[in-house]
Amino acid sequence: MCGIVGYTGPRQALPLVLEGLRRLEYRGYDSAGVAIVDGEGGLSTAKKAGVLGNLEHFIDSGDVALAGLTGMGHTRWATHGGPTDRNAHPHTDATGRVAVIHNGIIENFVTIRKDLESRGIEMRSDTDTEVVAHLLGQAFAQGPTAGDLPASMAAVCRCLEGAFTLVAGHADVPGMLVAARRNSPLVIGVGDGEMFLASDVAAFIAHTREAVELGQDQLVVITSHGYEVTSFSGREADFKAFHVNWDLSAAEKGGYPTFMDKEIAEQPHALADTLLGHFDGNGIVLDEQRLGEDELRTIDKVFVVACGTAFHSGLIGKYAIEHWTRLPVEVELASEFRYRDPVLDRETLVVAVSQSGETADTLEAVRHARRQRARVLAICNTNGSQIPRESDAVLYTHAGPEVGVAATKTFLAQVTANYLVGLALAQARGTKYRDEVTREFELLSEMPAAVATTLTLMDPIRELAADISRSKAVLFLGRHVGFPVALEGALKLKELAYMHAEGFAAGELKHGPIALIEEGLPVVVITPSPKADPMLHSKLLSNIREIQARGARTIVIAEEGDDTVAPFADFLLELPRVPKLFQPLVATIPLQILAAEIARSRGYDIDKPRNLAKSVTVE
Ligand code: F6R
Repeated sequence: MCGIVGYTGPRQALPLVLEGLRRLEYRGYDSAGVAIVDGEGGLSTAKKAGVLGNLEHFIDSGDVALAGLTGMGHTRWATHGGPTDRNAHPHTDATGRVAVIHNGIIENFVTIRKDLESRGIEMRSDTDTEVVAHLLGQAFAQGPTAGDLPASMAAVCRCLEGAFTLVAGHADVPGMLVAARRNSPLVIGVGDGEMFLASDVAAFIAHTREAVELGQDQLVVITSHGYEVTSFSGREADFKAFHVNWDLSAAEKGGYPTFMDKEIAEQPHALADTLLGHFDGNGIVLDEQRLGEDELRTIDKVFVVACGTAFHSGLIGKYAIEHWTRLPVEVELASEFRYRDPVLDRETLVVAVSQSGETADTLEAVRHARRQRARVLAICNTNGSQIPRESDAVLYTHAGPEVGVAATKTFLAQVTANYLVGLALAQARGTKYRDEVTREFELLSEMPAAVATTLTLMDPIRELAADISRSKAVLFLGRHVGFPVALEGALKLKELAYMHAEGFAAGELKHGPIALIEEGLPVVVITPSPKADPMLHSKLLSNIREIQARGARTIVIAEEGDDTVAPFADFLLELPRVPKLFQPLVATIPLQILAAEIARSRGYDIDKPRNLAKSVTVE
């Protein structure tokens, strides 16, 4: 939520800042802006509502001089104040000599704003961020921190409540940026005689792969000579340096028309890489294991907490974890979890699933669980992000960077990671023999190939998408693991094509939702394997008949060779045969493609659906 970039060094800052913003646009695209410190006592800003392209056109028109070796940029996902030019970041103080960009929410901004206004300061935006620019300008102008930008920033941060990554520059201090973080991400890029700041390494990966991750309540000062990290109280602070092990091509479109197309195509690799290194011949291996086998053995119930697509991965995980471990598993929306007083204790394992590792709802659920002394295991795609840092153990999904706002490859990787958690628990608790765990892992290892085959079968779905793109709504039905797949298919269609879509447990339809069925309504049905579960299959067949009899247009996703379903399918897509629990790994793919193609034929940008941001760092 909001992308932040900063640069200082020997090169012109503007092109580097714009390039960084382009790579971070997935974090928000309501407006964009830059500020450049020119080295001659000046600071200029340019900002525009809408996508980054609007700002670039504005800059190209040449109305603002933006030369200088120190600069910052921001791409916004609006929280306080509409997506307008005046609310776009950077924000400046009354003198226009200090500029601030911000990701997060300053929770006490109303009080600060009132206080500033009572002292005659006129606000020029509706944002929570602007107050920081005024406070910083004042702290730098007078009092104990006068003339000292880092000390001024530290003093301001001590007055702020909420979540923030802040970056500030001052016309009087060319060649320096000061940044601070609390509950929002910030990484430093360490180049050769130049330094970067960003919400995500993707912003500077083209220039350096050496990075430093800031901890909670830390402040960093960058100049072309290096960086210095302290706490908000000015004390030396611990931080973690790391090498980014993916390169620029992973963050580029690689010849695909959109990131989402590329990420869908990358799914076999995302799965294979997620499995890699998680089995060592003796059993399942977690990445950062701060929980002993003994502790895992005492677990007596599991909660999976997550949001959106990650939540759907947990719903699938439940079937596998319960089946393999015989432990009760509850799957809960992270945004609801802590508000209902869940029963947690030291014997509870909370599995927090998050691609970004910074989703505020999930992070707060983790903190709540830890306060109740539950053990927390994170499934995460972003190395070193907040959720894994605050967890007892981590299983990283090695899906690589996902830029398309709609989660695709990371969903499949999360599902896979949930299976691995199930196997790790089964192994620790002894509910499966070691050779059974090995066998399941071997079957899972065959899934990247099945996913690759599935991707070659998608042309009919693309044709179908054009055909149903004018429908009013689409329903999705499934049973067992097909039910969460139906929910995920509906979510993808809503977020990408802005169409009404609902996912239902097929058996539940006759308890109400069947009233929605009308002539020609497309209903996508995820059919279980007739061989793996004949009873479930025959129940689902009855459900298809019920809706077809009421005029629905049945779009049936079935296992190859399933002859019984053909007579009831207006459209039939056959997928490779895979083990029952692993069906979501293939069955989700046509639904991702269906949603993407419907959105495309309606003329929408599938990488940047309206109103959304890739990581949601506010509750
Ligand atoms: C939908 C989507 C979102 C995320 C959700 C959680 O395509 O991407 O529903 O799954 O916002 O995000 P993470 O996994 O980063 O916690």
